[in-house]
Amino acid sequence: MPTDIIDVRSDTLTRPTQAMLEAMMGAAVGDDVYGEDETVNALQSRAAELFGMQAALFCPTGTMTNQIGIRVHTRPGDEVICDELAHIYIYEGGGIASNSGASVRLLEGRSGRFTADQVRENINRRDDSHFPWTRLVAIENTVNKGGGCCWDLEEITRIREVCDEQGLALHMDGARLFNALAARNETAQQYGQLFDTISVCLSKGLGAPAGSLLLGSREQIATAHRYRKAMGGGMRQSGYLAAAGLFALEHHVERLREDHSRAKAVARELRSLPYVASVLPVETNIVIFSLPESLSADAFVAKLRERNVRALTYGRQKIRFVFHLDVSDAHVDALIAALRAI
Ligand SMILES: Cc1ncc(COP(=O)(O)O)c(C=O)c1O
Repeated sequence: MPTDIIDVRSDTLTRPTQAMLEAMMGAAVGDDVYGEDETVNALQSRAAELFGMQAALFCPTGTMTNQIGIRVHTRPGDEVICDELAHIYIYEGGGIASNSGASVRLLEGRSGRFTADQVRENINRRDDSHFPWTRLVAIENTVNKGGGCCWDLEEITRIREVCDEQGLALHMDGARLFNALAARNETAQQYGQLFDTISVCLSKGLGAPAGSLLLGSREQIATAHRYRKAMGGGMRQSGYLAAAGLFALEHHVERLREDHSRAKAVARELRSLPYVASVLPVETNIVIFSLPESLSADAFVAKLRERNVRALTYGRQKIRFVFHLDVSDAHVDALIAALRAI
């Protein structure tokens, strides 16, 4: 039984493993603003090849890759279509407005997943100057606030068709796309064919200490390079971080399924506990559950903390657990014991 803290607040909390640290220490570096960091260049090439896309740009965060992606596709006064649960809308500090000057059309999807018909119904007509021009559709996969659920590739394909018909761009917030690929047995290439730009994070389930990649066409990534500079994201010897990303792509993708199994085991347990009102279906590494009206999530999380478990409240009645590289089977056993003891 582990005596240490079981921290399931987020998959961003992982610390580099010894092997990852060694890969970082041995990285060949240069000034990436000059394009001279060979490890950053290797990571960008590897990612572009993996997705079958022309180019990639290494950035410090997923917020930055999303915001640059949105800016590449829009001009001030344009409109972005996304789900009401989307990270780009809720959790990026109003960046769509402040970075791109764009407005947002929110769709009410099913746990963050909308349909091609909803997209079609929400595109503004261009022959009436009252309306902002719809320019971009953004999809999040997996959906963080949707309990880590995955999109159906068939629906994304239908949305791509609508975008092609209407001259819209399609962006993916794939902070946890590798979790979706593992859960649905899909490939990065399938996504590369469908999206204009894709943002993927190396610092979540993949366990790197920092870093995200924006993938797109050569021309879009050249524009993105300029926006990254303007946003203050031009790093110098960032090859030390890129080395962690390369290591993560090599060694931490296959193991994501272990996180999914652990999340499912804990969800099964939660469903059997009398004080749990409901548990969202679990497909990947995120578990979101609700308590009844009579129990507050804050008080529940405080009780878990007394038992060495750190979790996040997700609204007044909801709690989120996220499984990751630093949560072992022994931690899961201890977490289940804590849940039973409360
Ligand atoms: C779905 C989603 N997109 C984007 C991000 C932003 O990533 P970062 O924290 O690296 O800015 C997150 C972060 O948790 C996320 O969950």
